[in-house]
Amino acid sequence: MAERDPDQIITIQQHIIEQQRKHPTASGEFSWLLSGITLAASIIQAKVRRAGLINILGETDTDNVHGERQQKLDIFANQIIERCLAFRGNVGVLGSEELPEPIIVHSREGHGKYVVLFDPLDGSGNIDVNVSVGTIFSIYERVTSGPITDGGLKDVLQPGVNQLAAGYIVYGSSTVMAYTTGDGVHLFTLDPATGSFMLADEHVRIPENGKIYSVNEANFDSFPKGVQDWIHWARTKEAGPFTSRYIGSMVADVHRTLIKGGVFMYPATAKSPKGKLRLMYEANPMAFIIEQAGGLATDGKNRIMERVPTELHERTPLFIGGKHEVTAIMERLARG
Ligand code: AHG
Ligand code: MN
Ligand code: MN
Repeated sequence: MAERDPDQIITIQQHIIEQQRKHPTASGEFSWLLSGITLAASIIQAKVRRAGLINILGETDTDNVHGERQQKLDIFANQIIERCLAFRGNVGVLGSEELPEPIIVHSREGHGKYVVLFDPLDGSGNIDVNVSVGTIFSIYERVTSGPITDGGLKDVLQPGVNQLAAGYIVYGSSTVMAYTTGDGVHLFTLDPATGSFMLADEHVRIPENGKIYSVNEANFDSFPKGVQDWIHWARTKEAGPFTSRYIGSMVADVHRTLIKGGVFMYPATAKSPKGKLRLMYEANPMAFIIEQAGGLATDGKNRIMERVPTELHERTPLFIGGKHEVTAIMERLARG
C-alpha cells in the first residue's frame, strides 16, 4: 500500500471508493450500500450516547426468535438499519438477529443485488451498565436472480467465504468502525465534530502470540476437555502467563483481540450445546475481519467461513484470534 501523507484526511466514503477502484467490476453501488451502514451507525451511536437521558434503556415486552428479551435499543437499532438500507435501491434481502425471517426488499430485475445480514446491537446485556456495545454486518451478492420466491433463504444461506464485505461498529469510548472487502482490515473513528468516520488505521494485523484469552469462565465445567486443558495451560508461568479479559459484548472482545492479540472463544456449553453465537451475523463477519488481519476463526474443528449454513439463526461454537492461540486450542480439542 503506498504510504499515505500523514496530513491526508480520509473519510470512510473516500476509502471505500478507493477500495472499489481496485475491483474493476465494482460499479460504485457498493460504496453507496456501505454509506447506508455508516449512516445507520451514526444514528445508533447518537442514541447509545444519550441512553439514560431519553427513554431508550431497558427491555421491551417482546422476545426475539432466540427467546431472548429484546432491549429497546435492539429494536431501535434494527429499525434504523432497515430504514437506512431498504431505500438504497441495491439491497435485495435483509437478515437480522432481531427478525425471525429475512426481509425481501427488492427483487425486481436489476435491483437489489446485495444481501445484508446484521446483528443490530451486539452485547445488549451491557446497554444499561454503560459498557461497549456494537453493530455487526455481513454483505453478500444475491445468488438468485429475478423475483425471490423462497423467502430469500437461497440468497441468505451462503457460506462465509462468499462475503463481499463485513465489519462492525463498536460504540465504546469512541465510535470505531472496522471493515474489510477482502483487501485488509481498515479502522475508522467517528469524529463527533463532523459526524464523519475518519481513517484511523489501515491494513491492521492481529499481533502474533497474544497473551489475552477471553471466555466466560462461569461455563468452564461444561467446556469440552480440550478447551479446559488449554485454559489450564494458559494460566501457567510457562505459557506466558496469559491474562483474562471478558467484556460480554463479542464485538468489543473481538475488537480488543484484533488490536492486542490473543483469543476470544465461546465454546459449546451445557446451556448452549451448539455454542451461543450465531454463525451468519456474528461469527462469519468477525471471521472475515480476523482472517484478513492474519488470524483464524474456527468452530473448534472447521474454518467458520467454510461452514455451509442451514438456518439464518443457527448457532456455532467460536474460537477466533491469533493463529498460534486458535491452532493450539484446536490441537487440544483434536486430542479429545
Ligand atoms: P447479543 O447482545 O447480540 O445477543 O449478543 C450477545 C452475545 C455476545 O455479544 C457476547 O459475547 C455473548 O452474548 C455473551 O454471552 P454470555 O453472557 O453467555 O457470556
Ligand atoms: Mn450479538
Ligand atoms: Mn444483538
